[in-house]
Amino acid sequence: MASAQVLVASNRGPVSYARGADGTLEARRGGGGLVSGLSAIGPDTDSLWVCSALGDGDREAVRRAGGGDLPDADTGGRRVRMLDIDPDVHSDAYNGIANSVLWFVHHLLYQTPLEPVFDAEFRRQWAAYETYNRLFARALADQAGPGAAVLVQDYHLALVPGMLRELRPDLRIGHFSHTPWAPVDYFRMLPDDIAEQLLRGMLGADRLGFLTRRWADAFAACCEAVVGGTGDTELGVHGLGADADFLRERSRRPDVAERMAALREQIGPGRRTVVRVDRTELSKNIVRGLHAYRALLDEHPEWRERVVHLAFAYPSRQDLAVYRAYTEEVSRLAAEINEAYGTPGWTPVVLHVEDDFARSLAAYRIADVALVNPVRDGMNLVAKEVPVVSDHGCVLVLSREAGAYAELGADALVVNPYDVTGTARALHEALTMPDDERAERTRRLSSAATALPPEKWFLDQLHALD
Ligand code: F6P
Repeated sequence: MASAQVLVASNRGPVSYARGADGTLEARRGGGGLVSGLSAIGPDTDSLWVCSALGDGDREAVRRAGGGDLPDADTGGRRVRMLDIDPDVHSDAYNGIANSVLWFVHHLLYQTPLEPVFDAEFRRQWAAYETYNRLFARALADQAGPGAAVLVQDYHLALVPGMLRELRPDLRIGHFSHTPWAPVDYFRMLPDDIAEQLLRGMLGADRLGFLTRRWADAFAACCEAVVGGTGDTELGVHGLGADADFLRERSRRPDVAERMAALREQIGPGRRTVVRVDRTELSKNIVRGLHAYRALLDEHPEWRERVVHLAFAYPSRQDLAVYRAYTEEVSRLAAEINEAYGTPGWTPVVLHVEDDFARSLAAYRIADVALVNPVRDGMNLVAKEVPVVSDHGCVLVLSREAGAYAELGADALVVNPYDVTGTARALHEALTMPDDERAERTRRLSSAATALPPEKWFLDQLHALD
């Protein structure tokens, strides 16, 4: 049935499946801006979300659905089609190219004396990335009704707009980057033909969306340098905001209150808290954050026994060795700080590595200081979520390299993420900020953070394609 009028395409879909030992499949629905955004289009519009099967459970679900739409009961009634792409092709495209090359380029993550190396193995993986993009383009071309709007997401699918344009010139095609965009010199580390193919692939869209003006300008500069400009493609900026209604309701539920009590027990009475919540992602700069906290305890010994760093670092991309090594370093360093400074009644760093959304919200509510210090980040929603749910006001220590800086910088304590001493100084300033100033800044941060709710963020992009 080629009828959908609004299509979304992303690597990770709104539902995933876990296979139980007894052969049952358990569907888990995810959240995030796209899920809320898509819910804003009325029931009269036929929509379809095309995503990739990511694990064995997903593949089994696709087989059971006969390759068609997933059961309504699993998706909350939304049409979702998962593509069962050959696991080796998917792994080369997702782990090999998307996460180990494109993610690294846009977040400036290479240790350049030794990497990147663009050799025959890279070319082999690049061919898989092309195949994976082509499979998405074909599925979208098959399912889109005449003149439909297609909103393609992220660096995984950078070639889709151009491929889809060739298959279906009648469609209105948008692409949105949830990441930063690399500066020209860094982007041009990519082999010239690949850099050109990527940009031309994206320029197949009618409109390209970015989270901040800075990333849109960086993209335009790369186009200028590599392909002579952006042609007829329009660039737009849509700074996705926090979902205030959802967060306020969810953070008041009993499971969050239970987690708050448990955290207070771990923190101990009368102590201040510095909170961070991240995926254990190289760009999040968790290790330098821990160094900064240690520097705070060195430079300001008066904080010993009086502050606890709650660091939640949830598993991410564990198929990649460099992520596994980074995860280990986070645990090692937290243990080292606790060993060096801890006392029988005080654990300086409380590290949690199992993903627990209710506990994250509990930490947001009680945080005195939130540390958000990525080396580079498309937006960073934690920076926007904390002020919305904070109980008593929370000082935001924010990296100037996070997209959120554009909207929140004025009321945050801004840091250079590489400057550990400067970050320690900001932590001290945050911990000593008078309560009324902290509360006032939190109010302003919350209002800036919710200026563009996910529904409006999505509809703005859709209407801009009209
Ligand atoms: O920022 C880009 C992005 O795709 C986000 O949408 C998401 O938070 C993150 O990366 C997740 O990555 P993955 O799907 O690899 O876990």
